[in-house]
Amino acid sequence: MHYRPLGRTGWKVSTVSFGAWGIGGSWGEVDDQESLAALNCAVDLGVNFFDTADVYGDGRSERLLARLRRERREPIIIATKAGRRLDPHVASGYNRKNLTAFVERSLQNLETGSLDLLQLHCPPTEVYYMPDVFGVLDDLVAAGKLRYYGVSVEKVEEALKAIEFPNVQSVQIIYNIFRQRPAELFFKEAARRQVGILARVPLASGLLTGKLSASSAFAPDDHRAFNRHGEAFDRGETFSGVDYDSALAAIDHLRKLLPAGISMAQLALRWISMDPAVTCAIPGAKRPSQVEENVAAADLPDLSPELMVSIRKIYEESIRKLVHPYW
Ligand SMILES: NC(=O)c1ccc[n+]([C@@H]2O[C@H](COP(=O)([O-])OP(=O)(O)OC[C@H]3O[C@@H](n4cnc5c(N)ncnc54)[C@H](OP(=O)(O)O)[C@@H]3O)[C@@H](O)[C@H]2O)c1
Repeated sequence: MHYRPLGRTGWKVSTVSFGAWGIGGSWGEVDDQESLAALNCAVDLGVNFFDTADVYGDGRSERLLARLRRERREPIIIATKAGRRLDPHVASGYNRKNLTAFVERSLQNLETGSLDLLQLHCPPTEVYYMPDVFGVLDDLVAAGKLRYYGVSVEKVEEALKAIEFPNVQSVQIIYNIFRQRPAELFFKEAARRQVGILARVPLASGLLTGKLSASSAFAPDDHRAFNRHGEAFDRGETFSGVDYDSALAAIDHLRKLLPAGISMAQLALRWISMDPAVTCAIPGAKRPSQVEENVAAADLPDLSPELMVSIRKIYEESIRKLVHPYW
């Protein structure tokens, strides 16, 4: 495993970390014993950073992580998120009363007195123009309820605005072979301000593992069935917002570039860490075998410049127009 500094926190986090949305819910049925086995496997292999949210399985994901921390001696950093319990999900809901209540609930779920890293959970764009919200977060840090805070964003523009707030330590954004725009301007700005970057949806919801096909079926409670067109939340969170047929065609091209001895998932994850501005990727995983495959990507050698150029070409020719104007 390799580790990189996260913002100005002083932490060094595993370049392949763990996204704990799937083990909470919205990805079909999951079994807590298997999820715990996946989490333990990650710790065994050197993963020290876990991303969750209060709404993943309505706290189920946070509680699994609390249990992991109780059962392991290794230092584990847990990043959670707040905001999505708001209904309706509006900017005015990001106020002192609500944020404080969300934090208190996550403290309970995570069985801790202080959250390591709290991220605003893809709030409406307006929130980035409301300095009072960040003032509340500063107060929660001063009160010892949070060690640090950051944001999770949908759009590059939101990321650029968020890092103007001096105490934002991390930005979580979709960055993968199908979402290359963050690297164009945002990564340079984040690096200049020493802000950590958490690359979410690194496998494009499983597409970039190469295992999905036109006949793949998803359970009704899997967002890959119920959010294909953004029916429940931003459509970019499902398959990175790339329509399924275009994505499969691009994957066929990618498959031809695969170097011997590595899997598609590993190519996708190693591609992310090729950019030194990225702190870590946070692939979701439901079972130990997925963790083992994903974590092994951290120790692969650099991808060749020729391979990087070929991947870029596939993005430019088939994907860019589908995502660039939106996020
Ligand atoms: N708004 C936000 O802040 C937000 C939104 C989305 C995600 N996130 C965070 O980012 C994390 C990662 O994104 P994500 O979970 O949406 O998508 P992802 O990491 O691109 O895909 C994860 C899914 O791919 C499949 N998979 C993983 N490793 C595999 C392997 N080696 N072989 C085959 N299949 C594999 C698993 O699902 P199956 O086995 O069911 O195919 C897994 O649940 C989340 O867990 C969450 O922590 C945050």
